[in-house]
Amino acid sequence: MSPILDCIKNKNTTTKPIWLMRQAGRYLPEFKEIRIKNPDFIKLCLNKNLAQEITLQPLKRFKLDAAIIFSDILILPYGLNQDVKFIKNFGPMLGDLNIKNLNKINSVEFSNKLRPVYETLKKISKNKLIKEKDLIGFIGAPWTILVYMMNKKSPKKNLSKDFLKDKFIIDQLLIIIEKFLKIHIYNQIQNGATIIQIFDSWAGLLEEKDLNKYIYEPTLRIVNYVKSLNVPVICFPRGIKNYRRYCEVVNPDVINIDYEVDPKKIREEINITIQGGLNPKILLTDQENLKKQALKYLDIFKEHPYIFNLGHGVLPETDPNMIGYLVNLVKDY
Ligand code: CP3
Repeated sequence: MSPILDCIKNKNTTTKPIWLMRQAGRYLPEFKEIRIKNPDFIKLCLNKNLAQEITLQPLKRFKLDAAIIFSDILILPYGLNQDVKFIKNFGPMLGDLNIKNLNKINSVEFSNKLRPVYETLKKISKNKLIKEKDLIGFIGAPWTILVYMMNKKSPKKNLSKDFLKDKFIIDQLLIIIEKFLKIHIYNQIQNGATIIQIFDSWAGLLEEKDLNKYIYEPTLRIVNYVKSLNVPVICFPRGIKNYRRYCEVVNPDVINIDYEVDPKKIREEINITIQGGLNPKILLTDQENLKKQALKYLDIFKEHPYIFNLGHGVLPETDPNMIGYLVNLVKDY
């Protein structure tokens, strides 16, 4: 059994497996080289050979325990025929929503449009670099996908107060999003994903009173769906104030904490496997400091099933040597 599955299923605490969110990305010169020649990001995600190569790049350099498929959470709106572009120094830019057209999309059409992602997973799962390791598939949580589809760009700081006003559209949209997220999960698992991670990057934007409708209920249904397929599910509700309550309600197999969470406190509060926490900015400092901060997490979770990861994705300005240093440190712990 792979080290990560052993940690999740058997609650093994003796080894501390490691992988990193955004491990395949802009801090790697070999990624940048491919990216420059491929200005259309979505097209790159759908290029089977290159997507496989990018997914495996970090595994060639570092002793990581998992690969995460090179794709994006916004491949979902793309699959639903909403225009998705990534603009340099701005981020994602989505096209107008047309709820009538969305209601017409069927699952076959959707799956065919995203077929290259699934074929990439299939290819990677047969690659020897992934042997005894996990291949992580992922989705954006319904709330985070809703935010991007309706806001059409990153909500960065505050979401406008009017955002939740259009209940009629939102209710329809949430049903469509949930339906297709499940199809996307099913297809990823069918083609070799051994774990699913749910990114709720904008969970922190909601007030307590809205959590039930937009986060707890739809996420719980998706978590139960993944569990019904016998695959472990990791949730990352970034910025949510009450992780304990989230775990009680949604009950994923693994909870990824962000860097604002007090690791000691969370360890006392929940029994499930914990992942992540280290502030990615620490990787921009020096090895001595990185060692100190990484050991803090390793020591606190010594007796707790723990998968080493960050409290958010690797930053583009990170020196790859710092990643190598961190991975070796965790492996030698
Ligand atoms: O983790 C990995 O290495 C696997 C691939 C992956 C990408 N995006 C590739 C990517 C994963 C897991 C994601 C998830 C994702 N995408 C999230 C959730 C995690 C988070 O960061 O909160 C979100 C919110 C997105 C949406 C998205 N995609 C944004 C906001 C941006 C632009 C800003 C940025 O971080 O670069 C992207 C583009 C993107 N997705 C890039 C990569 C490698 C950079 C593309 C480029 O080179 O311009």
